[in-house]
Amino acid sequence: MSHEMRSSRIPGFYKKSLDERLRIVGEWAGLTEEEVNLLRNLGNLPEKIADSMIENVIGGMTYPFAVAVNFKINGRDYLVPMVIEETSVVAAASNAAKMLRRGRGIIVRAGPQEMIGQIHLVNVEAPYYKAMKILEHKEEIIDHAKQQDSTLIKLGGGPRDLEVRVLNTRMGPVIVVHLIVDVLDAMGANAVNTMVESIAPLLEKITGGEARLRIISNYATRRIVRALARTDPEDVGGKDVARKIVEASILAEADPYRAVTHNKGIMNGIIAVALATAQDHRAIEAGAHAYAARSGVYKPLSTWELDEEGMLVGSLELPLQVGIVGGATKVHPIAKIALKILGVKTAKELAEIMAAVGLAQNLAALRALVHEGIQKGHMRLHARNLAIMAGATGELIDKIAERMIGEGKIRYDYAKKLLEEYLKGENK
Ligand code: MEV
Repeated sequence: MSHEMRSSRIPGFYKKSLDERLRIVGEWAGLTEEEVNLLRNLGNLPEKIADSMIENVIGGMTYPFAVAVNFKINGRDYLVPMVIEETSVVAAASNAAKMLRRGRGIIVRAGPQEMIGQIHLVNVEAPYYKAMKILEHKEEIIDHAKQQDSTLIKLGGGPRDLEVRVLNTRMGPVIVVHLIVDVLDAMGANAVNTMVESIAPLLEKITGGEARLRIISNYATRRIVRALARTDPEDVGGKDVARKIVEASILAEADPYRAVTHNKGIMNGIIAVALATAQDHRAIEAGAHAYAARSGVYKPLSTWELDEEGMLVGSLELPLQVGIVGGATKVHPIAKIALKILGVKTAKELAEIMAAVGLAQNLAALRALVHEGIQKGHMRLHARNLAIMAGATGELIDKIAERMIGEGKIRYDYAKKLLEEYLKGENK
């Protein structure tokens, strides 16, 4: 097929079988048989599940699943599953977790698992009066929402409160209703979206307006997690390193360009756990970054200080919207295994672990940055990866990696050359 003739308009593509879709794409892109077979390999995700999770599936893509060790959180030891494509993250998390094992380890608290569902009412006359009128009907509205999810109510969750605001927008006044729902162990989007859709007609009747958007807010300000960690400066490399970590924290407070990278380091840990447990990581990211900017200026989510005893202390606060029931968590067989490795029984506990990993990850990043710089560790791992890719095994991996680092030639072709030399016995 010539490139000019190709059309991406493929009617009924979604109705075709996985193999048929793959054949079409294979032809389109000129994939070799080997490439098609590789893509067709769904790894540890059963075909039926893969094909029903999203649309237009043509294959699978495997990411490495690792486990960070050394974590002690709220006095309990955890092995933490992490899925990520970036080298050093798991090693760094494990390292920092070792530094934060004193006492009960990292202390984390998550509050009630409350999400906010929004309804935007437009074309409302006398919006301030109508806002009050909504509050007058609060009980009735909450009761109506309760009828949408009997399981959640039975388990002790459900709608808790109703809040109303009037926004003055470019299209005139808009009433924003927030339904606060305790979603317990779910991420909550399904339950909340069903509830806000169900109460929208009632709100239209009360206000005479028109319910436009009826959807969860991923700015989960009622699902905040707070983590605390305390360590001896000696554990991080001495007083000088500890002082510089504190300074790095101050620089992030002063400079949004640095704060974003600082927070990216935190999210390295949080999102790796989110991926391993099949969370909606986009929701977590969106909520976290909005929270970082809640003062109007983008700030770091964590702070490092020295306390009166000269100990290095860190704190982290962010919203985390995670679930262990419903969604992909309960469908993806590997996510289920990840939860089993963690041994968590509630979404709250999962959120606490994720925050702890975020704080440890942050400490590891700052320590590396102020100590030897981030590239040394990265390059060591990168060199090892190149050696493995070139075909090295056993002792040869480190030998080749060290040579490449020592000579400042960290390249695949050089790894191959060195391997050949070693195998020929030219390089003892
Ligand atoms: C790299 O993935 C993350 C870091 O850039 C975080 C940071 O700078 O704090 C190392």
